[in-house]
Amino acid sequence: MEKTLVIFKPSAIERGLVGNILTRFQQKGLIIAGMKMMMLDEKILREHYSHLVDKSFFPLLLKSMMASPVIVMCLEGKDAINVVRLMTGATNGREALPGTIRGDFASSNQENIIHASSCPEDAKAEVARFFKPEEIFDWVPVNIPFVYSALEIEK
Ligand code: TYD
Repeated sequence: MEKTLVIFKPSAIERGLVGNILTRFQQKGLIIAGMKMMMLDEKILREHYSHLVDKSFFPLLLKSMMASPVIVMCLEGKDAINVVRLMTGATNGREALPGTIRGDFASSNQENIIHASSCPEDAKAEVARFFKPEEIFDWVPVNIPFVYSALEIEK
């Protein structure tokens, strides 16, 4: 099983979309391994978006991500990083396919509802950035044999 980090951005919080999006992840069979509400600050955002600090839109991105509290979530599942990225859709909500979270709820490049880790290295670093070890729960829901076949469950 793999862990990935999702951030429900201020655009999801302010627009009341948290329940709807969380339902999608649960319907898919992803396990909530950690979840909390927090206010992001410039320090953590400069780390999280270090690949974008030189972009002209970075000040606006900072402001957008600090516009309200966010909900950070660690989701777990087979190939969870790729599964969640596919469910998230393209960065620009106007280009994201219908059926994806951004495709269905976003019309913006910046106000694009959620963040989702893009690769195993990022997922590991991002879960550690936003959660203390004791905030991540290693639990297996009883329905797991009905989400995956025995061959697909390694743990
Ligand atoms: P990026 O890591 O490129 O995309 P993704 O979130 O799909 O992994 O960009 C991070 C965030 O930066 C993106 O979700 C929204 C913001 N952003 C802009 O506001 N304008 C832009 O042109 C880009 C590329 C990103």
